[in-house]
Amino acid sequence: MSELARTDFGDDFTWGVAHASYQVEGAWDADGKGPSIWDTFTHGKGRIRDKSTGDVACDFYHRYDDDTALVRDLGFDAQRFSISWPRVLPTGTGRVNRAGLDFYSRVVDSCLEHGVEPWVTLYHWDLPEALQQRGGWANRDVIGWFEEYVGVVADALGDRVKDWMVFNEPCSFMVVGHLAGVHAPGTRSLRRFLAGTHHVNLCQSAGASVLRAKVADANVGTTHIISPMATKADTPKHRRAAAALDAFANRIFLEPNFGLGYPTEAAGLLKGVERYFKPGDDEAIKVDWDFLGVQYYTRQQARPAPIPGLHAVPWIRHDYRNYEITAMGWEVQPDGLYESLAKVHAYDPELTLVVTENGAAFPDKVEAGRVHDPRRTAFYQAHLAEVRRAIADGMPVDGYFCWSLMDNFEWAEGYGPRFGLTYVDFDTQERIVKDSGRWFRDFLA
Ligand code: FCB
Repeated sequence: MSELARTDFGDDFTWGVAHASYQVEGAWDADGKGPSIWDTFTHGKGRIRDKSTGDVACDFYHRYDDDTALVRDLGFDAQRFSISWPRVLPTGTGRVNRAGLDFYSRVVDSCLEHGVEPWVTLYHWDLPEALQQRGGWANRDVIGWFEEYVGVVADALGDRVKDWMVFNEPCSFMVVGHLAGVHAPGTRSLRRFLAGTHHVNLCQSAGASVLRAKVADANVGTTHIISPMATKADTPKHRRAAAALDAFANRIFLEPNFGLGYPTEAAGLLKGVERYFKPGDDEAIKVDWDFLGVQYYTRQQARPAPIPGLHAVPWIRHDYRNYEITAMGWEVQPDGLYESLAKVHAYDPELTLVVTENGAAFPDKVEAGRVHDPRRTAFYQAHLAEVRRAIADGMPVDGYFCWSLMDNFEWAEGYGPRFGLTYVDFDTQERIVKDSGRWFRDFLA
């Protein structure tokens, strides 16, 4: 791999860091905020590995200005953050919580004062609990609720925010939250999953339309986790398993928006979505994105279902094929990032792509005031080389966001896995820039 230079990526390339409301803000019930499904989920028993919650997290709610100064100090152009829906609309619809909206307005101003572009995600998994009580994503009324919420945020921030992402990884919150029950709301329901999948896809286009109507020159996208599929053997059974898993993990939230329908031929189970179709949905679901966010962490390995005939249900495993393993148990496979970009690029060669998340957790330690994390630096270098290769091969990749600016609440895993370029001492809230953050500062300078 030849040495990386910022200039390899072009002058207009956006360098950013990403994080999300529930993972960093804390202040879970401050200033009129309503509870989200993640508040309910973490306050319930036995759901989070270290029994922690996001009640305080990184206290970004109070420290956003220093944290944004840090983004600039590390040399990044952009900060991607998300809006907590129940901070803005405590019960999901109706009454607006001014104080919550003002908080995000201050974050945007802080970004602009520090010369950092604000990139806003509208939904990074913290649905208002009040809406969950009304059926959440499984209730078709969610389309109207979501339009109302997006409208309120666009009216408040659209004069200053141009870069928008409607969702963060629909696949994760639908599959992991609604089908596997490992994330909030913690349901294991095929019905909720199938209905919710269709409604989320309709919300992607509905949210994009509201943004376009309200924000002049909006750059509107959404983000997807893309996980290329590997198999142990190249047999028809293995290929079928990989195709089914690919349909669930990668295709169900991408293809309907491109007007391609659901990939039912690869995963028969998805035929159940048809029950939730209404006349006109085929058209309403299409979106003409300005960009798509590709988020990549690792490849998955698909294996055939142990019971014949069940291959509609994908089976995933990592079998540690001589790859380096992160603290999440994920294999380090940089060329999978190239493959992920190529996969999305193939749908529409003109469409701009942005790597909206990429990063890794390693067991970091503070030693004499420093955090030496050479594995993370090597991870970033190897993945950036794959982005450079994608650009050289003609893919329109316009930006790259590290996950994450700082260590934060890693969902069901709690505070164990540290993904930050900055170490956070969760007792004192001290931030210590890791060696990987220092590497970025030099690289971007
Ligand atoms: C992604 C999520 C993000 C973070 C990283 C590690 O799937 O979007 O919030 O948890 O994984």
